[in-house]
Amino acid sequence: MKKRDKNSQLEMLEGAKSMGVRAATSVSAGAAVGIGNVLSSSIHSVVQNSSLAKQSFGYAILGFALTKAIALFAPIMAFLISSVFRSKDWSDPSQQPNYRAHGPWKPSAEANQRIARISAHLHPSNVQMEESSILGRTNCRAKGGAPGFKVAILGAAGGIGQPLAMLMKMNPLVSVLHLYDVVNAPGVTADISHMDTGAVVRGFLGQPQLESALAGMDLVIIPAGVPRKPGMTRDDLFNINAGIVKTLCEGIAKCCPNAIVNLISNPVNSTVPIAAEVFKKAGTYDPKRLLGVTMLDVVRANTFVAEVLGLDPREVDVPVVGGHSGVTILPLLSQVKPPCSFTPEETEYLTKRIQDGGTEVVQAKAGAGSATLSMAYAAVKFADTCLRGLRGDAGIVECAFVASQVTELPFFASKVRLGRTGAEEVYQLGPMNEYERVGLEKAKNELAESIQKGISFIKK
Ligand SMILES: NC(=O)c1ccc[n+]([C@@H]2O[C@H](COP(=O)([O-])OP(=O)(O)OC[C@H]3O[C@@H](n4cnc5c(N)ncnc54)[C@H](O)[C@@H]3O)[C@@H](O)[C@H]2O)c1
Repeated sequence: MKKRDKNSQLEMLEGAKSMGVRAATSVSAGAAVGIGNVLSSSIHSVVQNSSLAKQSFGYAILGFALTKAIALFAPIMAFLISSVFRSKDWSDPSQQPNYRAHGPWKPSAEANQRIARISAHLHPSNVQMEESSILGRTNCRAKGGAPGFKVAILGAAGGIGQPLAMLMKMNPLVSVLHLYDVVNAPGVTADISHMDTGAVVRGFLGQPQLESALAGMDLVIIPAGVPRKPGMTRDDLFNINAGIVKTLCEGIAKCCPNAIVNLISNPVNSTVPIAAEVFKKAGTYDPKRLLGVTMLDVVRANTFVAEVLGLDPREVDVPVVGGHSGVTILPLLSQVKPPCSFTPEETEYLTKRIQDGGTEVVQAKAGAGSATLSMAYAAVKFADTCLRGLRGDAGIVECAFVASQVTELPFFASKVRLGRTGAEEVYQLGPMNEYERVGLEKAKNELAESIQKGISFIKK
């Protein structure tokens, strides 16, 4: 290499070095911590190292060339972009980015409804907000969701309530599902709301949210209360559950007086008369709409009879009448479908097992509660028949504990026909054998006391 070239190269290197020092000084001034510290130490290491300085010089030349190129092409790019914008008429909605093939984009109704649905389970409905928004209560059957009925479960976080909520979320007849409890309702609601079924789920926690939970409901299912422990009868639950049922029914009378009520809380033989008295007091009592759930007795009867007959339980239909406790549970084995006969031993075994089915589960659970899963199944089976009746399906018949003239008692469980207004027809008991007639008298004696206990609880 010539000496002149060497000198000029050294001058350029010195220039580059001094430029690097100036840059390093100015950048370091702003580099206090973190990324700034790392950056300034890197620049210093470039200045100290001559081979790195050579690289820096190369980059400087490259940068200069790029700047020139951008300066040359910028006016051409600007001209192209502005001509594209001039060709659009932005006052025409069809030229706007959100325009859809079926018409101009409307942000309000659809967007608001989606937001309401997404946040439904996180924020219980706020009456004031709903009144002022375009989303009225009647529109709760959210667009895109399943058309159907609005159902509330009171006591939704309990042993029965949780699987019941899950199964009702799977029911295609349900469009809105309200889950109310005094504990853990938000957790259960968040969990259930992730199921990709049609019903929109909302959670409600504690007494202040009871009215919001009930407003506008078509069907209210009540498994709220305490369950039995070993050694307890259903009647032992009376004092706690009577008060709970009274409060909840006062809410129903106020917020959804036309709803069908499915009462599960024990003792059903007393809680149904309690509910009736509350509704009478409020002036909203319609006997057709108040149904005590005795479906679990029917479910058990079908299962146990099918075992004895060696049949599929789904093919068996056993009417169970009377009430929902001990001897008040009266299976009419002489009326089983398909027609069949039992020996006296089989009749005795089956009747006892059906009557003691609840106790069998209470003892097996050894203090951890009573029947919950089979009860949730039975409750959903019964609720589904109520919803199909509400829809107007013909020939919907199930057993339930209702206001009745079938015996001299004011309430009695027997087959009822479910329709648009609830239990539209209460069927007679039909022909019974001697064993069943004796059983009926025992059932009536105990039932009379339990019914009176419920009525007195409200009237006292
Ligand atoms: N009808 C039947 O065939 C049948 C069968 C089994 C159980 N039961 C009855 O169902 C009831 C519930 O049983 P479980 O095993 O689910 O009991 P659980 O204790 O597991 O659940 C009861 C739920 O009710 C809630 N609760 C209590 N007070 C409430 C109130 N004031 N408002 C709203 N929620 C309230 C509790 O927080 C709890 O989540 C019991 O009374 C039980 O005897 C009935």
